Amino acid sequence: MLNNKVVLITGAAGRIGASAARGVVAQGGSVVLVDVNATGLDELLADLPTKLAMSCRADAGLPAEADRCIAEAIERFGRLDAAIHSAYPRSKGWGTAFEDLTPEFLSEDLSGHLGGAILFSQRMIRHFKQQGHGNLIHVSSIQGITAPKFEHYVGTSMVSPIEYSAIKAGLIAVTRYLAKYCKGNNIRVNCISPGGILDNQPESFLEKYRESCNDKGMLDAEDVVGALLFLLSDHTQYLTGQNIIIDDGWSL
Ligand SMILES: NC(=O)c1ccc[n+]([C@@H]2O[C@H](COP(=O)([O-])OP(=O)(O)OC[C@H]3O[C@@H](n4cnc5c(N)ncnc54)[C@H](O)[C@@H]3O)[C@@H](O)[C@H]2O)c1
Repeated sequence: MLNNKVVLITGAAGRIGASAARGVVAQGGSVVLVDVNATGLDELLADLPTKLAMSCRADAGLPAEADRCIAEAIERFGRLDAAIHSAYPRSKGWGTAFEDLTPEFLSEDLSGHLGGAILFSQRMIRHFKQQGHGNLIHVSSIQGITAPKFEHYVGTSMVSPIEYSAIKAGLIAVTRYLAKYCKGNNIRVNCISPGGILDNQPESFLEKYRESCNDKGMLDAEDVVGALLFLLSDHTQYLTGQNIIIDDGWSL
């Protein structure tokens, strides 16, 4: 389905990023794996066909580092058609309750996650304009489209951070902004909003969460890959500025 497209994936060593990388390669595309986690990158790279994958250890939210990865990708594959921004930067204060938030960690998280996504977009769109085409995908969340279901968290130490909701809602706005901003440049910008991904959450949380869903409840990272491949493919050539929700009905 991806016919030799070259796709850069940030946060590639993470759950969604790694699943997306495997999905792109399985559909005939090549991947440029970007992450701050060198070990995670090495492990994923070892698992993918050498011809179809390369890695670039970098902070995707820093313009010079994003530019370096774009240059390395072009040197290796001759072009770079698309990017999925799935990096998930978190400060040491991540997961602090609303009442206890500090300006330092709040500002680090807003700037690292939302600011980083904006700056990453700036570098990718600059490259896409020079190239004459491009396809950028952001990863928001169900927390960007509705209020958290706070009752699911009762009896656990888990927190749904207010800044996460702000960042993820912001990403949907950024997606729309950039999609329109790129008018006339043959560049698409879209977003996906996955539901929660399984990661050893407490059983009580999983049960309540599942009750808000239709069939599965919390998802596996692989469950969101189909939407990413759809957005990367030529089947969605004029689909831009949209947010695709993949949440087993959680937000309905
Ligand atoms: N996990 C979930 O439940 C869930 C649900 C909905 C949306 N999302 C979103 O999906 C995206 C990916 O989440 P995930 O679950 O795969 O996270 P993850 O923690 O498994 O992976 C994130 C990866 O990003 C890397 N990273 C962090 N900062 C970086 C930076 N500045 N530059 C490059 N790489 C960086 C980390 O090293 C890590 O490998 C995030 O935007 C997250 O908000 C996650």
